[in-house]
Amino acid sequence: MIIAIDGPAGSGKSTIAREVSRRFGFAKLDTGAMYRSVALTALRRKVDLADENAVAELAQSISITFGAECHGNVSVFVDGQDVSDAIRTPEVDRNVSAAAANAGVRRAMLVPQRLFAEGRDVVAEGRDIGSVVFPHAELKLFLTADPRERARRRVLQRHEGEAVDEGLLSAEIAQTLADIERRDALDSQRAAAPLVCPDDAVRIDSTSFTIEQIVDQIERLIEERR
Ligand code: CDP
Repeated sequence: MIIAIDGPAGSGKSTIAREVSRRFGFAKLDTGAMYRSVALTALRRKVDLADENAVAELAQSISITFGAECHGNVSVFVDGQDVSDAIRTPEVDRNVSAAAANAGVRRAMLVPQRLFAEGRDVVAEGRDIGSVVFPHAELKLFLTADPRERARRRVLQRHEGEAVDEGLLSAEIAQTLADIERRDALDSQRAAAPLVCPDDAVRIDSTSFTIEQIVDQIERLIEERR
């Protein structure tokens, strides 16, 4: 069985996919981590993200693999080197949409994404999972949340366990909100596999539900579709 979860930045896809993976034993595929890995490698090798051919070639030449879970996220490796933390910096946040808008990069990612799902139950999250990667997924979810709430969650996640001044926190939330809205616009308006809600997806607004409530709802949907 394949569960496809799509939605904008910070809508809770990773958290929900992780809980679904834990509760029902599905393998979790974080496709955003793959585009982040391409963007990071381009930045590190000083390949201009606007040079579509060069970035597509780079995407074809690297091997992206996943390892055990660490701090709630699966570890990610590029050619065997651990990039799990490096792909989650604000610099990669700002540059990832350019890599993801590149049709050649998307073609390069499609084969490993589909291979990952062969012969096992998978919960995959991203922007084009239900529309392009797994159009025949048994269950498609489109997760949304109020933009301000998404920005707040992202900032709290960044400072987990730290004491942060309220004023600084609200300034960071405002900046993150602007970044998220910019990235959503780029992801939704691009020509190659834009972020869309597939017609056959179940829309879930996570603003006012707990993680547990959402996963309970998904459990009912899984039972219906098995
Ligand atoms: O966690 P967050 O929602 O911030 O982002 P992510 O899921 O890690 O995805 C990072 C970026 O990768 C997105 O902003 C998209 O530009 C791109 N992406 C994509 O184009 N297609 C996917 N299936 C997954 C991510």
